[in-house]
Amino acid sequence: MGYNLTQKILLNHLVSGTLQPGQEIAIKIDQTLTQDATGTMAYLQFEAMGIPRVKTELSVSYVDHNTLQTGFENADDHRFLQSTAAKYGAYFSRAGNGICHQVHLERFGVPGKTLLGSDSHTPTAGGLGMLAIGVGGLDVAVAMGGGPFHMVMPRVVNVRLHGRLAPWATAKDVILEVLRRLTVKGGVGKILEYGGEGIKYLTVPERATITNMGAETGATTSIFPSDEVTRAFLRAQGREEVWVELGPDPDAAYDEVLDIDLSSLEPLVACPHSPDNVKPVREVGPLAVDQVVIGSCTNSSYLDLMKVAAILKGKVVHPRVSLVIAPGSRQVYAMLAQNGALADLVAAGARILECACGPCIGMGQAPPSGGVSVRTINRNFKGRSGTADARVYLASPETAAATALTGRLTDPRELGDPPEIALPERFHVDDRMILPPADNPDDVEIVRGPNIKPLPVAEPLPRSIQGRVLIKVGDNITTDHIMPAGAKVLPLRSNIPAMAEYVFAAVDPSFPRRAREAGGGIIVGGENYGQGSSREHAALVPMYLGVKAVLAKSFARIHRDNLINFGILPITFIEPADYDRLEQDDVLQIDQVHQALQDGADLEVKNVTRNFTIKARAQVTPRQVEIILAGGLLNYTRRG
Ligand code: F3S
Repeated sequence: MGYNLTQKILLNHLVSGTLQPGQEIAIKIDQTLTQDATGTMAYLQFEAMGIPRVKTELSVSYVDHNTLQTGFENADDHRFLQSTAAKYGAYFSRAGNGICHQVHLERFGVPGKTLLGSDSHTPTAGGLGMLAIGVGGLDVAVAMGGGPFHMVMPRVVNVRLHGRLAPWATAKDVILEVLRRLTVKGGVGKILEYGGEGIKYLTVPERATITNMGAETGATTSIFPSDEVTRAFLRAQGREEVWVELGPDPDAAYDEVLDIDLSSLEPLVACPHSPDNVKPVREVGPLAVDQVVIGSCTNSSYLDLMKVAAILKGKVVHPRVSLVIAPGSRQVYAMLAQNGALADLVAAGARILECACGPCIGMGQAPPSGGVSVRTINRNFKGRSGTADARVYLASPETAAATALTGRLTDPRELGDPPEIALPERFHVDDRMILPPADNPDDVEIVRGPNIKPLPVAEPLPRSIQGRVLIKVGDNITTDHIMPAGAKVLPLRSNIPAMAEYVFAAVDPSFPRRAREAGGGIIVGGENYGQGSSREHAALVPMYLGVKAVLAKSFARIHRDNLINFGILPITFIEPADYDRLEQDDVLQIDQVHQALQDGADLEVKNVTRNFTIKARAQVTPRQVEIILAGGLLNYTRRG
């Protein structure tokens, strides 16, 4: 039996373990990426390991999230990151150069290599045939230090694309269809490997839209083969020399298969407030729209924005609609400026933002109260836009542009024939906003402004845990619920004491005070606890407040790993119905935790307040047990 593409790359990088789904493996990491909202912590953690230079083939530190500078905080972070990159051997992509995933695809991605990124949409590079995984910053810091990345071997799903997309159906509609079928939980513990004859009609930026938003299924990553389409993209980027042909063996086996007929797809939209709440555009509405946002790491490529410019050319946005456009990278921005498309966008009334995450992470452009926003981004969780009662719909750039013109959610097929836009023979290449590491690191001084606070470190796990249920939440709680983003909180990412005031802010603002008064405690969650982003602050800051365990029905992958990395015990109910028997403020006691973890035994969770005992399980590997007992990955790594 031959190998699939995922297995081939993993075998090439395997440090320990075997590729049996469910077994722990360790792989060598070739490249890392960090962005500023997670990168400050990652570099503080790297510093704490005492390693002088990164040991990967390539590490890049991007600034793209916190670019709105309403106070000194973000600028302090940028300076810190610029100096740490120079000193420790990473490339530094300056604010203004673009969104990490878009820039990485354009300038750094290499087929067949492994990439670990402290951002959940790192799988974007899977569009180039990389095995690209999003994790917490601490895992990236360890990889920068030369450590392998450990994960439980996922099941590999072959997503076979058949036929060809109909006019106005797009890559965004492909991934929305995948989400409709798999839901936001259906990819957990899986890698989505694309194949089938339909892939040859999809360009690399289109493939990257699909692998980007595969993160919303909970998948570990998504990947396309590296073929002639990949080669053409790399050639146009002036990087053909890094191309290799890579694909599955003809007799490769997969754990699952998902078939999608591209020719049957039509424009789709994810309705509030979940990326899997997907419906055909024609079935939603009539829906008046207040704002259209075109951008983000999902859909802000040259191809995307050229199509938008062609749709808007010679027209003007509807009077009710505020249209904002953020090009994905400086390369895209420069090319739009050079070929006149930018002038078409401006003439149509678009408000052009800098190349950054911007509205996607709630940094500016919050919709009006109760407003409807149609966005090309990848997440529409309640409140993420910055307006608590806004309703956000996720759609393709074509649907978004058509909607901006009519002022109502519009199926772009109403516009007639779609624009024909091809990839350029040559992209505009100018890497002067990417600073190489310093040749003389000893001369580089790390610049620490007042926003850079020392790194909190967890205590080793006590032998018995006793604590109050600080909060009981429902299913699909996102990292945005646990640790919100947005213009107020994001600038505090390198200042954990200040961030601690915002834990669960939108769910229960009294949480931080209660956690402090109780000296920490336990969180009770439903299914898929911690879905969404890779932000380790959703584990790090609760750790800072003394949270010792999270007892949930199930966890999202990255968040569960982050909890372990910060010494918080993630445990699941053996009987999910026991969830209903716990209330906020109940005092729980878990004895002989160390012994049970080391023996792989179930944990007895005693409800001291109501006098009954339930059983819970920590599905952790022996290595993860060691990490939790040590009080997190940093302690574990430093111990050697
Ligand atoms: Fe940025 Fe939004 Fe992507 S925050 S990295 S554009 S998901």
